[in-house]
Amino acid sequence: MNFWETVLCASLASLLAIILGGLHSMGAFRKRRPKEPPLDKGFIPWLGHGITFKKSPLTFLEGMQKKHGDIFTCLVGGNYLHFVLDPFIYEALLKESEEKLDFSKSASMIAFNLFGVQPTQDQHKVAHMNMKHLRGKTLEILNQRLMEKLQHIMLDGKHLRDGERSWQQDGIFHFSYRIIFQATFLTLFGDETGRAALNKEADKESQPMSYGEMFEKFLKFDHLAPQMVIGMLDPQRKEETDHLRNIFWDILSVQKISLNENISDWISEQDRQLAEIGMDETMRTKVMFLFFWVSQVNTGPAIFWILTYLLKHPEAMEAVRDEVDRALKGTGEEVKPGSPFIKATLATIKTPLLDSAILETLRLRASPFMFRTVVQDTDIRMADGREYLVRKGDALLLFPFLAIHMDPEIHPDPHAFKFDRFVSPNGTRKEFYKDGKTLKHSILPFGAGHTKCPGRFLAVNEMKIFVFLMLIYFDIELVNPEEGIPSVEGSSYGFGTVKPSHDIQFKYRLRF
Ligand code: HEM
Repeated sequence: MNFWETVLCASLASLLAIILGGLHSMGAFRKRRPKEPPLDKGFIPWLGHGITFKKSPLTFLEGMQKKHGDIFTCLVGGNYLHFVLDPFIYEALLKESEEKLDFSKSASMIAFNLFGVQPTQDQHKVAHMNMKHLRGKTLEILNQRLMEKLQHIMLDGKHLRDGERSWQQDGIFHFSYRIIFQATFLTLFGDETGRAALNKEADKESQPMSYGEMFEKFLKFDHLAPQMVIGMLDPQRKEETDHLRNIFWDILSVQKISLNENISDWISEQDRQLAEIGMDETMRTKVMFLFFWVSQVNTGPAIFWILTYLLKHPEAMEAVRDEVDRALKGTGEEVKPGSPFIKATLATIKTPLLDSAILETLRLRASPFMFRTVVQDTDIRMADGREYLVRKGDALLLFPFLAIHMDPEIHPDPHAFKFDRFVSPNGTRKEFYKDGKTLKHSILPFGAGHTKCPGRFLAVNEMKIFVFLMLIYFDIELVNPEEGIPSVEGSSYGFGTVKPSHDIQFKYRLRF
C-alpha cells in the first residue's frame, strides 16, 4: 500500500469510527435486554418517533398501545421513554422511592426551561409545606373571594343598569378564560393596589397593563410552552418568549405583589419562607411567575370545555340548570335586577349533576403525563404478574388519559360526554371496574402520588362556581347550534387540560 492509499484508508476508518460513534451515542445500536419492555426506535436515528410524538402524543401512543400492549419503550428525540398503561400499578410506581424513580429532575427541567427557576431541595420543602393553604379553611376563603370576584367581572354592573338584557356575543374560550384569568389573579395574588401605586409613582402617565392585555400575553406565552419545555425554540420565538417572560417578571415582581391587598396565604407564605431561606428577589419573582402559570393554565380551558359540552348537550344543560336553580333557592338568595351579589358558600350549594359534569369534562379533556426519571435499574411488576426492568437514565411516563379515561371497559363509550356518568343512584361514591377489579381512581386529571396537583380542590371549585354563576345569571346559546365541538390541538395532549383547535361563538344575556 503506498503512502496515499494508507492515508485514504486511515481517513475512511476514522470517518467510519466517527459515524459509528455518533450512531452509538444517538442510541441507534441499543438492543432490548432480557426483561426489558418491547423497544420501538422508529427509523430515524436519535429522533426516533420524535416528529409523530410531538405532533400528537395521543395518536402516537394509541398506535403503540395497539402494537405493543400496556408497556413499551420508544426512542423520542434522543430519549428512551418507557410508557406504562396498566392503571393497577400506577399507585405503586408513584410511591416508588426517589432513589429509583425521581420526579424532581424532570420538574426542575420544566421549571428552568419555562421560568428560569432552578428549584432546590429547600424550595421543594417550602412549596410542599404551603400546599395546606389550598385546602380546608383557607380554601373556603379563596372560594368566597372567587365567588365575589367572578360576579364582579362577569356582570360588570350590568345587573344594576336598565335595558341590559340584550344579547352579547363572544367566543366561549375567550370569554371564560379571560374572566377566570382575572378572577384567579385577584383571588391568589391580591387586589392590584400595589402595582397601580408603583406605576403612578414611576410615571404619572403610565397605566398598569389591563387584564385583557395581560391575558393575551399569557396566551402567547402558553402557546409556546410545549416547545420551551423540550428546548426547541427557534431564535425568533426565543426572543419573543424572553420578552414575554420579562413582562410577567415585571407584573409579578415580589416588590409589586407584596404591596397588593388580600394576597392569598398560599402566595404570601410561600414568598416569606423563600426569603427566609435566603432566596433573592429575582429568583422569588421567577417562582411567582411559575405559580401564576400553574394556577391559570389548566382551569381556563377546562371551563371552556364544560360550557361547550353543556351547550352542545341540551338534556345535560337542562338538568344542570334545573339543579342550579334549585340549589340557589335552597340558599335563600335570589337574583333579580339590582340585587346584591350572591354570598352562598359552596357548602350550601349542592349540585351532584354539575359535580359529575365537571368530572366528566376532566375525564375527556385533562390528559397529563406523569414523568419519572429512572435513577437506577428498576423492576416493574404488572398487575397480571409480568415483570419488566427499566433502565437507569431512561424516563418513565404514565398516561392515565389513555390507560383509564379512554378505556372503554372502565368508561363505556369513552368519547361521549355523559354528564351523569359519575352520579351514583344512592348518592354514594360510584365504583369503576377493569378486569372485574375495582379501580382506586376512575380518573386522574391532577396526577397522583406525592406530586399530585395541590390546586385540585380550588380548580374544581373554580369550575363549579363559574358554571353556577353563568347559569343563574345568564341565558346562554350557541350562535350556530349546528357547529360541532371543536377538536383538540393535538400537541396539547400530555400537558394538563387540552386546548381546542379553535374557539366557538356563543351569545349570552341576563336572565332577569
Ligand atoms: C383543571 C385545572 C388543573 C389541572 C388539570 C391541573 C393539573 C395538574 C397536574 C397534572 C400537575 C402535575 C402533577 C404531577 O406531576 O403528578 C399539576 C401540578 C401543580 N398544580 Fe395543578 N392543575 C389544575 C389547576 C391548578 C390550580 C388552580 C392551581 C393553583 C391554585 C394549581 C397548582 C399546581 C401546582 C403548584 C403544581 C405543582 C407544580 C410544581 O411544583 O411542579 N393547579 N397540576
